[in-house]
Amino acid sequence: MTVATSSTTDTPLKSTQGRVLVLDFGSQYAQLIARRVREQHVYCEIVRHDITAEQVRKHNPSGLIFSGGPNSVYDDGSPQPDPAIFDLDLPILGICYGMQLVCTSMGGQVVSTPSREYGPTQVSVTCRDSIFSEFPAEAQVWMSHGDQVMEAPAGFQPLASTGTCPIAAVKHESRPLYGLQFNPEVTHTPQGNTLLKNFLYEVCHCPGNWQLGDFAEEQIRQVQQRVGNGRVICGLSGGVDSAVVAALLYRALGDQLSCILVDNGLLRKGETGLVVDEFTRHFKTDLHVVEAETLFLDALAGVTEPQQKRTVIGHTFIDCFKQAAESIEDVQFLAQGTLYPDVIESGAAVDGPAATIKLHHNVGGLPDELGFELIEPLRDLFKDEVRQLGLELGLPEAIIWRHPFPGPGLAVRCLGEIKKDRLDILREADAIVIEEIVAADLYRKTSQLFAVLLPIQSVGVMGDARTYENALVIRCVDTDDFMTADWTRLPYDVLARMSTRIINEVAGVNRVCYDISSKPPATIEWE
Ligand code: XMP
Repeated sequence: MTVATSSTTDTPLKSTQGRVLVLDFGSQYAQLIARRVREQHVYCEIVRHDITAEQVRKHNPSGLIFSGGPNSVYDDGSPQPDPAIFDLDLPILGICYGMQLVCTSMGGQVVSTPSREYGPTQVSVTCRDSIFSEFPAEAQVWMSHGDQVMEAPAGFQPLASTGTCPIAAVKHESRPLYGLQFNPEVTHTPQGNTLLKNFLYEVCHCPGNWQLGDFAEEQIRQVQQRVGNGRVICGLSGGVDSAVVAALLYRALGDQLSCILVDNGLLRKGETGLVVDEFTRHFKTDLHVVEAETLFLDALAGVTEPQQKRTVIGHTFIDCFKQAAESIEDVQFLAQGTLYPDVIESGAAVDGPAATIKLHHNVGGLPDELGFELIEPLRDLFKDEVRQLGLELGLPEAIIWRHPFPGPGLAVRCLGEIKKDRLDILREADAIVIEEIVAADLYRKTSQLFAVLLPIQSVGVMGDARTYENALVIRCVDTDDFMTADWTRLPYDVLARMSTRIINEVAGVNRVCYDISSKPPATIEWE
């Protein structure tokens, strides 16, 4: 069994007081719980559900949160905590399945209810105990359970109930053990933060002093110590993660940092210029731009199959990066923008029942055989924390708030064979849709917006003449996690302006469509 290695022994966060561990019993919300805790300025990590009491002790946490999970506590092989964890006398908050675990571990009884309770429910608070202090007597909460605690264990008292769930919250009379049958971490429980805050501050007595700024300073100190007089290289992609890594490392190391930007000819309009400008003028890094458009387009000639495009681009990228890295002397370290969700999803942190495999073949990922020591200064942070850190480091909003862009770039948005003239058409149209959404003040309100060039022509009429030109699609989605997404209900007048401008300004396009598919069953990208 392994537990989170990210921050237990060698990261700066260990000096931060008041950490809380989330034991992941397979909840889809484990990350959300961790984020909510950090929003209260308490550092939080997700660990496997079967972490031993001894390992918990080494983390020296102020409290534990048991997440929900899809199982029934009585299922064969259902995930259970090490019973010795209860002997540590740490505050524990069990959520949903987590509450049922706390109760059954203490001798309570859980039963399967005839009707699953799922969705918004009114809860009545029967005991305004510490974690319910400042919580309304009646409030909406989000329930999602089939089982429920029927009989509170000896020494526990019920704190709240709903129409169908008589014990919706419990606490031990003398020990710091709490359970909530509903989810305080989701937005559908509008007062949920009050409960988490009370648990963290009143029960766990966390000082609430976790700050991103302190995190950055600690990281800078650590990197300086680790790198000494060595040299670090960092790949820049135009994305926010690599930009924040580079900005942080520049602060730490100055001219000991070399950045590599591979211009593969598949980037968005103005992207290379924006990055080059930022990392040569503002952060005066030793920036190496590899002009590789021809190399990539040659390698992609005749390739139409999406996965093959990714493979070709991935290999070509590694070759280019390697060559550029070899031209820089005495490089020992490679910096990467790995984030906490990547660490969790790769299984390195939890590898528990909820761990999923990231299916994306991340172009831009570099193989171990490059032989560098890895530096991953963001591996404890969530995306929104990375953005905030980037702003604190002085990166411009244009980089920080850019919509995500896939590693294979425009290649997976230029359907069919990739040709320079088709990429140029796509790039121009893409720039127009972005300009128009920014003008409509909707850019920050949408998750991802882009154009897709289809490999088909359609008939049109321009002036008095027949045209037979490219059809293009606008794709815009709203999503929290990019695993599921809904198409954005963009106002018709915004769509109309995008369409009119594209057809008028981009030669070669005579038809614009709007993609109204959600994910699933579609995906966000077309390839
Ligand atoms: P899909 O199309 O799978 O996309 O719904 C989900 C998110 O992932 C991005 N994406 C990729 N990112 N390499 C990447 O780095 C890829 O091959 C890739 N394919 C999709 C996509 O832009 C969206 O944000």
